[in-house]
Amino acid sequence: MKIYKAKDYNDMSRKAANILSAQVIMKPDAVLGLATGSTPLGAYSQLVEWYKKGDIDFSLVTTVNLDEYKGLTKDNPQSYYRFMCENFFDHINIDKKNVNIPDGTQENSDIECERYNNVIRSVGGIDMQLLGIGGNGHIGFNEPGCAFETETHCVKLTESTINANSRFFDTIDEVPKEAYTMGIKSIMQAKKILLIASGENKAKALYEAICGPVTPKNQASILQLHNDVTIVADEAALALMKYV
Ligand code: PGA
Repeated sequence: MKIYKAKDYNDMSRKAANILSAQVIMKPDAVLGLATGSTPLGAYSQLVEWYKKGDIDFSLVTTVNLDEYKGLTKDNPQSYYRFMCENFFDHINIDKKNVNIPDGTQENSDIECERYNNVIRSVGGIDMQLLGIGGNGHIGFNEPGCAFETETHCVKLTESTINANSRFFDTIDEVPKEAYTMGIKSIMQAKKILLIASGENKAKALYEAICGPVTPKNQASILQLHNDVTIVADEAALALMKYV
Protein backbone atom coordinates (compact mmCIF):
# COMPACT_ATOMS: atom_id res chain seq x y z
CA MET A 1 0.00 0.00 0.00
CA LYS A 2 1.38 3.40 -0.94
CA ILE A 3 0.06 6.31 1.10
CA TYR A 4 0.45 9.89 -0.04
CA LYS A 5 -0.40 12.69 2.34
CA ALA A 6 -1.95 15.77 0.75
CA LYS A 7 -2.11 19.15 2.41
CA ASP A 8 -5.81 19.64 1.91
CA TYR A 9 -8.74 18.74 -0.34
CA ASN A 10 -7.38 20.60 -3.38
CA ASP A 11 -3.99 19.01 -3.08
CA MET A 12 -5.60 15.57 -2.70
CA SER A 13 -7.71 16.21 -5.80
CA ARG A 14 -4.74 17.25 -7.93
CA LYS A 15 -2.65 14.28 -6.84
CA ALA A 16 -5.53 11.87 -7.54
CA ALA A 17 -6.17 13.47 -10.94
CA ASN A 18 -2.49 13.10 -11.76
CA ILE A 19 -2.60 9.37 -11.02
CA LEU A 20 -5.77 8.85 -13.07
CA SER A 21 -4.39 10.90 -15.90
CA ALA A 22 -1.13 8.93 -15.90
CA GLN A 23 -3.19 5.75 -16.21
CA VAL A 24 -4.99 7.10 -19.28
CA ILE A 25 -1.78 8.41 -20.87
CA MET A 26 -0.04 5.06 -20.34
CA LYS A 27 -3.07 3.12 -21.60
CA PRO A 28 -5.40 5.27 -23.74
CA ASP A 29 -8.07 2.53 -23.82
CA ALA A 30 -7.96 2.03 -20.05
CA VAL A 31 -10.97 0.84 -18.10
CA LEU A 32 -11.49 3.22 -15.19
CA GLY A 33 -13.67 2.24 -12.26
CA LEU A 34 -15.25 5.45 -11.02
CA ALA A 35 -16.95 6.63 -7.86
CA THR A 36 -19.50 9.25 -6.90
CA GLY A 37 -19.73 11.32 -3.70
CA SER A 38 -18.18 14.62 -2.69
CA THR A 39 -14.61 13.36 -2.48
CA PRO A 40 -13.90 12.78 -6.20
CA LEU A 41 -15.46 16.04 -7.40
CA GLY A 42 -12.19 18.00 -7.28
CA ALA A 43 -10.30 15.28 -9.15
CA TYR A 44 -12.98 15.17 -11.85
CA SER A 45 -12.90 18.93 -12.32
CA GLN A 46 -9.10 18.86 -12.52
CA LEU A 47 -9.27 16.16 -15.21
CA VAL A 48 -11.83 18.24 -17.12
CA GLU A 49 -9.45 21.20 -16.98
CA TRP A 50 -6.55 19.15 -18.33
CA TYR A 51 -8.82 17.70 -21.04
CA LYS A 52 -9.81 21.22 -22.12
CA LYS A 53 -6.14 22.17 -22.32
CA GLY A 54 -5.56 19.19 -24.60
CA ASP A 55 -3.43 17.26 -22.12
CA ILE A 56 -5.60 14.19 -21.83
CA ASP A 57 -7.82 12.27 -24.23
CA PHE A 58 -10.72 10.10 -23.07
CA SER A 59 -11.95 9.02 -26.51
CA LEU A 60 -10.92 5.39 -26.02
CA VAL A 61 -11.54 5.14 -22.28
CA THR A 62 -14.22 2.88 -20.84
CA THR A 63 -15.70 3.55 -17.40
CA VAL A 64 -17.47 1.30 -14.96
CA ASN A 65 -19.08 3.01 -11.98
CA LEU A 66 -19.29 1.46 -8.57
CA ASP A 67 -22.94 1.90 -7.79
CA GLU A 68 -26.38 3.37 -8.42
CA TYR A 69 -29.50 3.89 -6.35
CA LYS A 70 -32.19 1.35 -7.06
CA GLY A 71 -35.40 2.95 -8.27
CA LEU A 72 -33.93 6.12 -9.80
CA THR A 73 -34.03 6.73 -13.53
CA LYS A 74 -30.90 7.95 -15.33
CA ASP A 75 -32.29 11.46 -15.60
CA ASN A 76 -33.31 11.75 -11.95
CA PRO A 77 -31.25 14.67 -10.57
CA GLN A 78 -30.04 12.43 -7.72
CA SER A 79 -29.08 9.43 -9.85
CA TYR A 80 -25.41 8.63 -10.01
CA TYR A 81 -25.69 8.52 -13.79
CA ARG A 82 -26.71 12.18 -13.76
CA PHE A 83 -24.02 12.98 -11.21
CA MET A 84 -21.31 11.49 -13.41
CA CYS A 85 -22.58 13.30 -16.51
CA GLU A 86 -22.85 16.67 -14.81
CA ASN A 87 -19.54 16.46 -13.02
CA PHE A 88 -17.42 14.63 -15.55
CA PHE A 89 -18.70 12.89 -18.66
CA ASP A 90 -20.49 15.87 -20.23
CA HIS A 91 -17.25 17.87 -20.14
CA ILE A 92 -14.82 15.38 -21.69
CA ASN A 93 -14.67 13.47 -24.97
CA ILE A 94 -15.67 10.10 -23.59
CA ASP A 95 -17.93 8.04 -25.84
CA LYS A 96 -21.12 7.55 -23.79
CA LYS A 97 -21.37 4.05 -25.26
CA ASN A 98 -18.34 3.24 -23.13
CA VAL A 99 -19.90 4.51 -19.91
CA ASN A 100 -21.27 1.81 -17.61
CA ILE A 101 -23.34 2.37 -14.46
CA PRO A 102 -25.77 -0.10 -12.85
CA ASP A 103 -29.33 0.40 -14.10
CA GLY A 104 -31.36 1.65 -11.15
CA THR A 105 -34.61 1.07 -13.01
CA GLN A 106 -34.14 -2.69 -13.29
CA GLU A 107 -36.43 -4.02 -10.59
CA ASN A 108 -35.14 -7.55 -10.79
CA SER A 109 -31.91 -7.51 -8.81
CA ASP A 110 -30.73 -10.91 -10.06
CA ILE A 111 -30.98 -9.77 -13.67
CA GLU A 112 -29.24 -6.45 -13.07
CA CYS A 113 -26.43 -7.87 -10.97
CA GLU A 114 -25.69 -10.59 -13.49
CA ARG A 115 -25.78 -8.07 -16.33
CA TYR A 116 -23.35 -5.76 -14.53
CA ASN A 117 -20.96 -8.56 -13.64
CA ASN A 118 -20.94 -9.49 -17.33
CA VAL A 119 -20.25 -5.86 -18.27
CA ILE A 120 -17.18 -5.81 -16.02
CA ARG A 121 -15.96 -9.09 -17.51
CA SER A 122 -16.69 -8.06 -21.08
CA VAL A 123 -14.59 -4.90 -20.84
CA GLY A 124 -11.69 -7.04 -19.69
CA GLY A 125 -11.69 -6.02 -16.02
CA ILE A 126 -10.85 -2.71 -14.41
CA ASP A 127 -7.40 -1.18 -14.83
CA MET A 128 -7.75 1.41 -12.08
CA GLN A 129 -10.58 1.66 -9.58
CA LEU A 130 -11.16 4.98 -7.84
CA LEU A 131 -12.71 4.69 -4.38
CA GLY A 132 -13.94 7.02 -1.67
CA ILE A 133 -14.43 5.73 1.85
CA GLY A 134 -17.48 6.16 4.07
CA GLY A 135 -17.26 7.34 7.66
CA ASN A 136 -18.10 3.73 8.57
CA GLY A 137 -15.44 2.30 6.23
CA HIS A 138 -17.83 1.41 3.44
CA ILE A 139 -16.60 1.32 -0.15
CA GLY A 140 -19.16 1.61 -2.89
CA PHE A 141 -22.33 0.74 -1.02
CA ASN A 142 -20.70 -2.24 0.68
CA GLU A 143 -21.72 -1.56 4.23
CA PRO A 144 -20.17 -2.96 7.43
CA GLY A 145 -20.83 -6.67 7.71
CA CYS A 146 -21.21 -7.27 3.98
CA ALA A 147 -19.54 -10.53 2.84
CA PHE A 148 -16.22 -9.92 1.09
CA GLU A 149 -16.97 -12.60 -1.53
CA THR A 150 -19.75 -10.74 -3.30
CA GLU A 151 -19.76 -9.37 -6.82
CA THR A 152 -22.45 -6.88 -7.91
CA HIS A 153 -25.40 -7.08 -5.55
CA CYS A 154 -28.38 -5.13 -4.28
CA VAL A 155 -27.95 -3.69 -0.79
CA LYS A 156 -30.28 -2.20 1.77
CA LEU A 157 -28.65 1.07 2.80
CA THR A 158 -27.85 1.54 6.48
CA GLU A 159 -29.37 4.37 8.45
CA SER A 160 -26.00 6.15 8.66
CA THR A 161 -25.55 6.09 4.89
CA ILE A 162 -29.13 7.25 4.31
CA ASN A 163 -28.51 10.10 6.75
CA ALA A 164 -25.17 11.00 5.14
CA ASN A 165 -26.71 11.03 1.66
CA SER A 166 -29.85 12.90 2.65
CA ARG A 167 -27.94 16.17 2.18
CA PHE A 168 -28.45 15.75 -1.56
CA PHE A 169 -32.23 15.24 -1.31
CA ASP A 170 -35.04 17.61 -0.27
CA THR A 171 -36.20 15.27 2.48
CA ILE A 172 -34.72 12.16 4.02
CA ASP A 173 -37.76 10.16 2.86
CA GLU A 174 -36.70 10.71 -0.74
CA VAL A 175 -33.37 8.92 -0.23
CA PRO A 176 -33.69 5.48 -1.86
CA LYS A 177 -33.42 2.60 0.60
CA GLU A 178 -31.60 0.23 -1.75
CA ALA A 179 -28.77 0.42 -4.24
CA TYR A 180 -26.88 -1.72 -6.70
CA THR A 181 -23.19 -1.86 -5.95
CA MET A 182 -20.14 -3.65 -7.18
CA GLY A 183 -19.15 -6.10 -4.47
CA ILE A 184 -15.82 -6.31 -2.72
CA LYS A 185 -14.88 -9.26 -4.91
CA SER A 186 -15.39 -7.14 -8.05
CA ILE A 187 -13.42 -4.25 -6.55
CA MET A 188 -10.56 -6.50 -5.45
CA GLN A 189 -10.23 -7.80 -9.01
CA ALA A 190 -9.28 -4.32 -10.27
CA LYS A 191 -5.62 -4.26 -11.29
CA LYS A 192 -4.96 -1.03 -9.39
CA ILE A 193 -6.92 0.77 -6.72
CA LEU A 194 -6.79 4.46 -5.88
CA LEU A 195 -8.55 5.41 -2.64
CA ILE A 196 -9.03 9.06 -1.81
CA ALA A 197 -10.16 10.59 1.47
CA SER A 198 -10.50 14.07 2.88
CA GLY A 199 -11.58 15.46 6.22
CA GLU A 200 -11.46 14.47 9.85
CA ASN A 201 -14.76 12.58 9.62
CA LYS A 202 -12.87 9.94 7.59
CA ALA A 203 -9.85 9.68 9.93
CA LYS A 204 -11.06 6.80 12.10
CA ALA A 205 -12.37 4.68 9.23
CA LEU A 206 -9.19 5.28 7.23
CA TYR A 207 -6.94 4.46 10.18
CA GLU A 208 -8.81 1.22 10.84
CA ALA A 209 -8.76 0.34 7.14
CA ILE A 210 -4.99 0.70 6.98
CA CYS A 211 -3.86 -0.41 10.45
CA GLY A 212 -6.73 -2.44 11.87
CA PRO A 213 -7.65 -6.07 11.33
CA VAL A 214 -9.03 -7.12 7.96
CA THR A 215 -12.68 -7.42 8.85
CA PRO A 216 -16.04 -6.95 7.14
CA LYS A 217 -16.79 -4.46 9.93
CA ASN A 218 -14.57 -2.06 7.99
CA GLN A 219 -15.04 -2.96 4.34
CA ALA A 220 -12.04 -0.91 3.20
CA SER A 221 -9.74 -3.03 5.41
CA ILE A 222 -9.81 -5.73 2.70
CA LEU A 223 -7.62 -3.42 0.62
CA GLN A 224 -4.67 -4.48 2.80
CA LEU A 225 -4.78 -7.74 0.81
CA HIS A 226 -4.67 -6.09 -2.63
CA ASN A 227 -1.21 -5.78 -4.13
CA ASP A 228 -1.56 -2.40 -5.85
CA VAL A 229 -3.35 0.14 -3.69
CA THR A 230 -2.56 3.83 -3.59
CA ILE A 231 -4.15 6.02 -0.96
CA VAL A 232 -4.18 9.79 -1.37
CA ALA A 233 -5.60 11.50 1.69
CA ASP A 234 -5.34 14.91 3.23
CA GLU A 235 -3.82 15.69 6.62
CA ALA A 236 -7.19 15.70 8.35
CA ALA A 237 -8.10 12.25 7.04
CA LEU A 238 -4.67 10.92 8.00
CA ALA A 239 -4.71 12.58 11.43
CA LEU A 240 -4.60 9.25 13.30
CA MET A 241 -1.69 7.91 11.23
CA LYS A 242 1.32 9.09 13.20
CA TYR A 243 4.03 7.90 10.82
CA VAL A 244 2.78 8.99 7.39
P1 PGA B 1 -18.15 11.18 0.13
O1 PGA B 1 -18.61 9.67 0.21
O2 PGA B 1 -17.12 11.23 -0.95
O3 PGA B 1 -19.38 11.94 -0.23
O4 PGA B 1 -17.60 11.52 1.47
C1 PGA B 1 -17.64 8.68 0.15
C2 PGA B 1 -18.34 7.37 0.37
O5 PGA B 1 -19.32 7.35 1.15
O6 PGA B 1 -17.91 6.37 -0.21
